[in-house]
Amino acid sequence: MTIQFKLISACCENMGIGKNGDLPWRLKNEMLHFTSMTTNTHDSNKKNVVVLGKKSWDCIPGKYKPLVGRINFILTSAKNLDVSKYRDTYVFNSWDQIVDKLEDPEFKNKYEDVWICGGSKIYEDAMKSQHFYRLYLTRIKKNYDCDTFFPKLIENIKKVSDTLVPQGIQEENGIQWEVEVWEKQ
Ligand SMILES: NC(=O)c1ccc[n+]([C@@H]2O[C@H](COP(=O)([O-])OP(=O)(O)OC[C@H]3O[C@@H](n4cnc5c(N)ncnc54)[C@H](OP(=O)(O)O)[C@@H]3O)[C@@H](O)[C@H]2O)c1
Repeated sequence: MTIQFKLISACCENMGIGKNGDLPWRLKNEMLHFTSMTTNTHDSNKKNVVVLGKKSWDCIPGKYKPLVGRINFILTSAKNLDVSKYRDTYVFNSWDQIVDKLEDPEFKNKYEDVWICGGSKIYEDAMKSQHFYRLYLTRIKKNYDCDTFFPKLIENIKKVSDTLVPQGIQEENGIQWEVEVWEKQ
């Protein structure tokens, strides 16, 4: 089985995804959607891999680090980032290193899906990669002041349905959101 990247993100109407190293919104159910999509596996002996840029890793509150029940991959240019206190957490300095690990025959038995969890450049690189398979994009139907944005969607993708995501428009705290699933053609 070749490696397939699944991207997961939430953006607001101006395509913003972050502000000051944090999410611009608090949407509990949307976060639960992120958690269940990135955690659930068919095979209970396996976990999913989540790939995060260093800034996204930094913005996870300490008590939620690493993302539990998942194998955390952090991408950074830093050579000495110490994650030894975190379970199931690995540091990589390039996408090539990540792909090498994902292709490692021994490691291959340990994981099921590969979820790319941002930020900006991570999404862009993953979407342009030969391994890109799907984008799970939550559209939050409101504008927020943001300093980090989801990249321009690539052209050869088409919307598909997936019964695993919340269907139709969701609403919490008076804010509407909807999950779109895009697949590479
Ligand atoms: N709404 C969403 O779905 C969502 C998802 C994720 C994040 N966010 C938000 O987005 C913001 C963070 O995203 P961001 O785009 O600023 O940063 P980011 O992508 O999380 O992290 C950027 C860092 O990742 C490392 N990196 C990226 N590509 C690399 C490569 N090819 N090789 C080596 N290292 C690489 C570099 O780390 P070094 O500088 O250490 O080298 C770079 O500075 C936060 O506000 C966060 O809350 C939102």
